[in-house]
Amino acid sequence: MNNASKQTAAPDYGIDFPKELRRNGLYGLGGVAMGIVLALLAADGALGIVLSTVSLVSGILLIANVAVSFWGSRSGKLRVRDQIIAQLPWRGDEQVLDIGCGHGLMLIGAAQRLTTGKATGIDMWLQESQWHNDSDATLANASLAGVGDRVTVRRADARDLPYDNNAFDVVLSSWVIHTMTDPDDRAQVLKEIARVVKPGGRVVIVDFDFVNEYVKHFRDKDWKDVQKAGPNLLFVTPTYTMSAVKP
Ligand SMILES: C[S@@+](CC[C@H](N)C(=O)[O-])C[C@H]1O[C@@H](n2cnc3c(N)ncnc32)[C@H](O)[C@@H]1O
Repeated sequence: MNNASKQTAAPDYGIDFPKELRRNGLYGLGGVAMGIVLALLAADGALGIVLSTVSLVSGILLIANVAVSFWGSRSGKLRVRDQIIAQLPWRGDEQVLDIGCGHGLMLIGAAQRLTTGKATGIDMWLQESQWHNDSDATLANASLAGVGDRVTVRRADARDLPYDNNAFDVVLSSWVIHTMTDPDDRAQVLKEIARVVKPGGRVVIVDFDFVNEYVKHFRDKDWKDVQKAGPNLLFVTPTYTMSAVKP
């Protein structure tokens, strides 16, 4: 690697939900193509013009959805990460766990706040969740960000964390738990999070869809300072952030 490429290399936090992006992109292009064909065939027919307009507009909306989601993966989620990390009260000696770390977005953001602390990322590196998802890519990102010495990664299932009770000061998780469609799986992850956070420690979950469920889980367990913030539309579907402190 020459000096110029060394200076410009930056962590790549991956493209999220590649299957959905591909599907929406193909449907979008199909819609636009169909709209154009219908417009050409239907010259004056009212029904043809309506169908062509519906097809074109649907196609354009799907392509816009892909563009916004792509921007969310490349840029938007870094901003959200930086805001969240900046709001946490860091000492520098924390033990941090990022659940479903992927390419290391939250993991590395947290590690940058540590001095003597350590940041651990667990994941199963599923390809359907992030493009080119791979633990080596996560470690390479940590090195590029200058925090390789503070970061470890481990292949593990969020539903069965390989850590002792009360092991972490901060547990983070971004856009992970919603991928579990079975409510029992989501409840199991929340239970595992609650188990590994130290008393006085904090959980922060960034996600779509089920954030009210997470809020209820921690409120029912009498966690302190349970808060929900958002929405943010960086992946078009609203993203919310919840945080809570273990009593
Ligand atoms: C959309 S990606 C988000 C990655 C990262 N948190 C980010 O914000 O860039 C979801 C991640 O959750 C991981 N994941 C999904 N189910 C999991 C499970 N049961 N245990 C561990 N990781 C899981 C996937 O492999 C993937 O890396």
